Amino acid sequence: MIKEMYREIILERYKNPVNAGVVEDADVVVKDYNPTCGDVVEIQIKFNNGVVKDIKFQGHGCAISQASTDILIDSVKNKKIGDVIRITSEEFLKTLGIELSPLRLKCALLGLKILKTAVYSYLGAGGEI
Ligand code: FES
Repeated sequence: MIKEMYREIILERYKNPVNAGVVEDADVVVKDYNPTCGDVVEIQIKFNNGVVKDIKFQGHGCAISQASTDILIDSVKNKKIGDVIRITSEEFLKTLGIELSPLRLKCALLGLKILKTAVYSYLGAGGEI
């Protein structure tokens, strides 16, 4: 029953993502893909005083990659950069609440990988923490 509920949430977020779009004045934009299937996610972030002020994504691919990115973005809005860096794959998979095969883990973690790349590239370019 609970598994079914999580599955429905994934499908709903895939069909109607709440964080899809463009951050016009983004500080950082990172796009990457899953090499095994070619599915793509791009994340755009605007920071303010070391906090995620605005964040959106665009992409195409399987329901899990797109929905999990949408859910991930919910969890990092208004978070400090230091807290975003500390999100582990295990924690995020718990947030998703669905059981995934090893192949599907890559789908679910694509957004997190891109988010972390975006944060590190912002910091690498001199962004404040
Ligand atoms: Fe491509 Fe899921 S099948 S990211």
